[in-house]
Amino acid sequence: MATTLILSSDDALSRLRQSIHAKSGNFYAMYSSILGGIVTDPALMVLPLDDHMVHRGHSVFDTATLTHGMLYQLDPHLDRFLRSAELARIPLPFPRERLRQIILETAAASGHVEGSVRYWLSAGPGGYGLGPGECIGSSFYVIVFKQEAYPESYYTEGLKVVTSHVPIKPPLFARIKSTNYLPNVLVVLEAKDRSADNGVFIDQRGMVAESSNMNVAFVSKERVFRHPPFDAILSGITIQRVLQFAERLVKEGELKEIRIADIPVSEGHQAAEMMLIGSSIKVAPVVQWDGQAIGDGKPGPITKKLLEMWNEDARSAIDQLVAVPYPD
Ligand SMILES: Cc1ncc(COP(=O)(O)O)c(C=O)c1O
Repeated sequence: MATTLILSSDDALSRLRQSIHAKSGNFYAMYSSILGGIVTDPALMVLPLDDHMVHRGHSVFDTATLTHGMLYQLDPHLDRFLRSAELARIPLPFPRERLRQIILETAAASGHVEGSVRYWLSAGPGGYGLGPGECIGSSFYVIVFKQEAYPESYYTEGLKVVTSHVPIKPPLFARIKSTNYLPNVLVVLEAKDRSADNGVFIDQRGMVAESSNMNVAFVSKERVFRHPPFDAILSGITIQRVLQFAERLVKEGELKEIRIADIPVSEGHQAAEMMLIGSSIKVAPVVQWDGQAIGDGKPGPITKKLLEMWNEDARSAIDQLVAVPYPD
């Protein structure tokens, strides 16, 4: 006797509603090009299994922070999204302006003024083959959600990191923000196994690359702001902005200079400050790497200053903020 139910459409829909879990309350609104609109019922925030994003990972994504009812740095994120799509050879289903409008309108439909907005562009649905030739057209999805906050201690006490054994992505794949984040997830799991908060990818030459979903920067004892080159890692939108803040600190005499060049692990270990930088973590101090203290083992002054500058920017830099068109 068959034990697996065959469900009617009505039954399936009601089971989707029953499958809502405690954390679904964090999902505020979703746009799906498959539906051709926005839903706010988490039960309906689903993807077709035949979408090549699901079964082949042929898709790219990006994120923007929703803060005080504004999207911070939406345009640079959108530019990187389109660069990723081009490298992944995914055609746009709509022009850039329409994608941007959908992102803003989904944020508005959420009714929330704080959160994260993440969007995906996929080769689209059409079957279970490998090549996108069978796809009926690219799909686009947007979700507005509440990001789980990092522990406050990351900022007040600092993080511990380890050098990861997970192989780094080859440069082409590291530069595309695709949905293949398996190495990035493994870096975090490995770090937790080793009682650390996160890991650092190292390239084949023993140079610092990046962290799980963050960039890694240092301040040397000579007060030089150090970052690896961007040709074999993801070019973070946050670090690009932080580099502008660092330039300000150079002018004010707090930093001597900025140097974008290879950083051997041994040099990083000797730094006065180390920090993780990205849209989700903002700017957070690292106080221990591979069991060794960084600097005096406490969050450093430049890292704190850069975080303050980031907070100020996200609050008030009008050229970095796009207003969400909430209904009156
Ligand atoms: C691998 C990787 N490196 C760096 C970053 C930091 O980029 P951003 O500042 O744009 O969040 C991210 C996050 O998107 C990432 O996934």
